[in-house]
Amino acid sequence: MKLSGGRTKIAQLLQSEATGDQVTVKGWVRTKRGNKNVAFIALNDGSTIHNLQIVVDVARFDEELLKQITTGACIRASGKLVESMGSGQPVEIQASEIEIYGTADPEEYPLQKKGHTLEFLREIAHLRPRTNTFGAVMRISHAMGYAIHKYFNDHGFYYLHSPIITGSDAEGAGQMFTVTTLDLENLPKTEEEEVDFSQDFFGKHTNLTVSGQLEAELGAMALAQVYTFGPTFRSENSNTPRHLAEFWMIEPEVAFFEIEDNMDLAEDFIKYLIRYALDHCADDIAFLSKMYDPELIDRLHFVLEHDFVRLEYTEGIEILMKSGKKFEFPVSWGLDLQSEHERFLVENHFKKPVILTNYPKETKAFYMKQNEDGKTVRAMDVLFPKIGEIIGGSQREENLEKLRTRVQELGIPEKDVWWYLDTRRFGTAPHSGFGLGFERLLLFVTGMANIRDVIPFPRTPKNAEF
Ligand code: 4AD
Ligand code: MG
Repeated sequence: MKLSGGRTKIAQLLQSEATGDQVTVKGWVRTKRGNKNVAFIALNDGSTIHNLQIVVDVARFDEELLKQITTGACIRASGKLVESMGSGQPVEIQASEIEIYGTADPEEYPLQKKGHTLEFLREIAHLRPRTNTFGAVMRISHAMGYAIHKYFNDHGFYYLHSPIITGSDAEGAGQMFTVTTLDLENLPKTEEEEVDFSQDFFGKHTNLTVSGQLEAELGAMALAQVYTFGPTFRSENSNTPRHLAEFWMIEPEVAFFEIEDNMDLAEDFIKYLIRYALDHCADDIAFLSKMYDPELIDRLHFVLEHDFVRLEYTEGIEILMKSGKKFEFPVSWGLDLQSEHERFLVENHFKKPVILTNYPKETKAFYMKQNEDGKTVRAMDVLFPKIGEIIGGSQREENLEKLRTRVQELGIPEKDVWWYLDTRRFGTAPHSGFGLGFERLLLFVTGMANIRDVIPFPRTPKNAEF
């Protein structure tokens, strides 16, 4: 089956040697220029960053039709594929037929001109996929999604769908969006004057998940190696270039993995993804590098070519304290590291990606494996240049009593996590996992500076228009 929609893709034609053939292309007009006798249409169909040139012998077409071919219009063009005389492209089409599917009034089409700012494009997120920049970002995003599944499949992992609606707060940070069908104008109340969620759809208080980890752990205790890849939601009010309220996370979870194995997996996985992007998205990466980030390609190779530094949190704090640098958040042991600290270690001190381990237990979630020292847990964060934290993970506490004590210390009601504790009661095993933020990965691979520009429809505080 061809499933072509009656067209040949421009990406395919630009590599084709079949000049002389009659072909049909369909896409959106990027520009039209020319003179009284001949017009040149640059057409893009999303299959590549490159446009195909369509040469129009003006005399052969209706004037009214040609007038309607303006930037943004959608057309079909059929004609002969020929070697191009111009230097910009290998081949072009000599049009014999043109059909207009949809016009785009030049007086009103917002993408009439080139060179809009990324801020402006965010305000027209419904149209920005038609720009070169977002076309490139979205093709890379697709390639990364595919590569993620391929990597895990090739390594014998099983894809597990963790629920999007849950009753738990996996990270214990309280940054959740409530899911309810209760009438907000008329909330049922308990005798204690609290909202009576027993009358809600699920008979309890539910929220959008912040992480699929807890459910992934349940899967790992049967299938040994699983991963989730789905949307996660956090109502943290951080208006930064690295935070979204809705983002996608990849969370592998592996039985019998110690923290060292977990680090090896994280490093191998992320290097595989970067290599895949370089191998399969070269044109798009080259375009983004030229437009936004001249050092992008070097940075990607640099990460591939170096072992990640493995460093304990305590050593990291010593380096930061000795650095003499004034940080906005002053450094002392126990500090929850901020992006400024992470980037100092990566960009100024080591000049390499760093995997930081053994964080103070107070800064991390309840499920992490406690070290003998009683102060630290077996956490691991992978810190990247320009991004800061790209991966967060840990070895998990597999001991029932230790986990239960930690749950109690943190005031987590046991009725909310009894099913999670059950994994430690029945056939518990050492295990580890991590979460990679998909859009943080894309930030790194595309060289874009703001996370709002690597997801088609960003959800951030006060912004859910499109
Ligand atoms: O470090 P986090 O909070 O870890 C977890 O959620 C664990 N349950 C993961 C696990 O062990 N299975 O989040 C993991 C990653 C971060 O390193 C970051 O890349 C990304 O998710 N992330 C965000 N990305 C965009 N916007 C946000 N608000 C993000 N919060 C976390
Ligand atoms: Mg984290």
